[in-house]
Parts: sequence; C-alpha cells; structure tokens
Amino acid sequence: MIETLDALREAVLQEAIGGLTASPKTLSPWLFYDERGSQLFEQITALPEYYLTRVERSILAAHADDVFLDAGAEVTIAELGAGTAAKTGLLLQAATRFQDEVLYQPIDVSPTALEEAATTITANIPGVSVRPRVANYITEQFALERPEQCRILALYIGSSIGNFTPSEATAILRNLRARLQPGDSLLLGTDMAPGKHKPVATLLAAYDDAAGVTAAFNKNILARLNRELDAGFDLDAFAHRARWNASESRIEMHLESLVPQTVLLAGKRLHFAQDETIHTENSYKFTDAAVAKLLASANFELAHTWHDANQYFSVTVARAV
Ligand code: AVI
Repeated sequence: MIETLDALREAVLQEAIGGLTASPKTLSPWLFYDERGSQLFEQITALPEYYLTRVERSILAAHADDVFLDAGAEVTIAELGAGTAAKTGLLLQAATRFQDEVLYQPIDVSPTALEEAATTITANIPGVSVRPRVANYITEQFALERPEQCRILALYIGSSIGNFTPSEATAILRNLRARLQPGDSLLLGTDMAPGKHKPVATLLAAYDDAAGVTAAFNKNILARLNRELDAGFDLDAFAHRARWNASESRIEMHLESLVPQTVLLAGKRLHFAQDETIHTENSYKFTDAAVAKLLASANFELAHTWHDANQYFSVTVARAV
C-alpha cells in the first residue's frame, strides 16, 4: 500500500512539475479525481446546469431494451471507466429481461469504486454476476472474459471519451477494439456540439454552475497539490474559467491567476503572470459526423444513434467490424 501511495505521489509530482513549468501551463485532468475531487464530480452530475448525466440517463431509459433486442445474441457487458457503475443499472436491468444470467465486467483504476459497484449490483440486480477488473484502460492492456456463445457489449458512457484529444480517443477505442470480435458492440455516450436548440451558453453554464461546484472541482487540483506536495497555492488568487473553443469543438477549463504571483512547489519557484492560466481540462463536443469518423478510425461501424429531443446528447451503438 505504501509503495502504491509513494508511486502515486511521485506521479502527481512529475505531472505538476512537468505541466507547471511548460508554456502554456497545464495540469492533467486525472489529477482532479482524488477522494475530494470524486465527491465534487458526483455533486456536479446532480447540478441543474450539468444536463449531461440526466439527459444520457433519459436516452438510456428510452432505448435500453433496443440495445439488447438488437444484439442478436446473449451478451456479457464490459464497461470502461465504470467507477461505482451508478449509471449502469438501467442497462443491466434491461439485459436481465433478455437473458437469465448476465456477466458484468467493470474496468476501473479504483479498486474501492469497483468493490462498491460489485456490492450494489449483486445486492440489487438478481441475475447479474460481477467480475471487476482493476486496470487503466487508457494505458494498459486488459482482459475481457467471453462466456460461451456470448457477444461482448462494451459500454463507454458519461461523455468520458470527450476528455481526450481526437488521437487519444482513437487510441482508446482501438485498444478496446483489439479485445473484441466482429459482431461485438460498443455503446458510446457523447455530448453534442452546440446547435439549433443548444446554445453555447448552455454548455458554458454546465461547466460554470451558479453554486460554484465546478469551480471548487477545478480548484481542487491546486488544493490537492497543497495537500499532497505541500505546495503553496493560494486558492483565492486563482479563478475558475470555462471557455468554448469553437475551432476545436471543446469546452476548456482553466485556472486563471488573478495577480502576478510566485508559488513554491517541491523546491521550485513557479511564476504566474496576471491573467496567465493553467489549462486543466478539455471536454470535446461532437456532431454525429464526428462520432462516425471516430468510430471508423477504430474499426467500428455505426449501428444506431439516439438523441434527446433537443439534441443535447447522443448515445451510439456501433459494431466491431
Ligand atoms: C468526466 N467528464 C465526462 C466530465 C465532463 O463533462 O467533461 C468532467 C467534468 N468537468 C467539469 N465538469 C465535469
């Protein structure tokens, strides 16, 4: 355990030094998700402005049965970045309407989140057995089990793919595709780019809510460096900023230095000009064409796309070819 904690501290240190001595300054979004950050993210998903979770759930509720009707065989369900699998219940429930036994294989870096997922699902959804896999699906190879006669349905929901650049997203889907056979499927949740019924202001509000939870989530990255590396960030000297970058089709989150300042981190003096920002996250927004292009780049063929009435979010089923 101590070795693991040391390794994590070292990774945080390397990321912080590398990102904050670069120009422009960056910090990688994986740093958000310590215990406090994960709690704040949970709160974000319940905010009135953060429509993503709500709308994706409504699409899944409307079409869960179609996913399994269409699969053409019994399936085992795998999930990339499953966390506590809070959103997966709907699909698992639906699966049990079509087959007596369902093997669910959640993949996540967090063993505690996976334990919680296994306990909750086993207690609440009869017919589902859970085989958790602790792995980083972005950087590591991972195994998937295939019960006899079963196809694999891989879930990658919650717009998680949006936090990666297009080439990283392709690499993630190719890594998954390498574990699948033709006829297996991927169910992908993506947030839509602004459009007729979706003003940019709606997107910006989702990433800059009135209660300030997203601001706290963004600033937690600096609080984490203070806690874990004994850094000297004054959280009040930075402001949360959400920006729409139209040419890249993404929301960017930044932390903007409100004054010229020098911060001490692991013996290094880091200088921030007034208005200089640390770029902490990208959240890419997709058109249907962009989703199809991404899927094709990883050898998937689009089978169905479902949207909500306002085209805020899309859920796509694609086949491995
Ligand atoms: C996890 N991910 C899909 C979220 C998103 O919408 O990009 C992270 C997030 N960042 C700010 N609010 C939510």
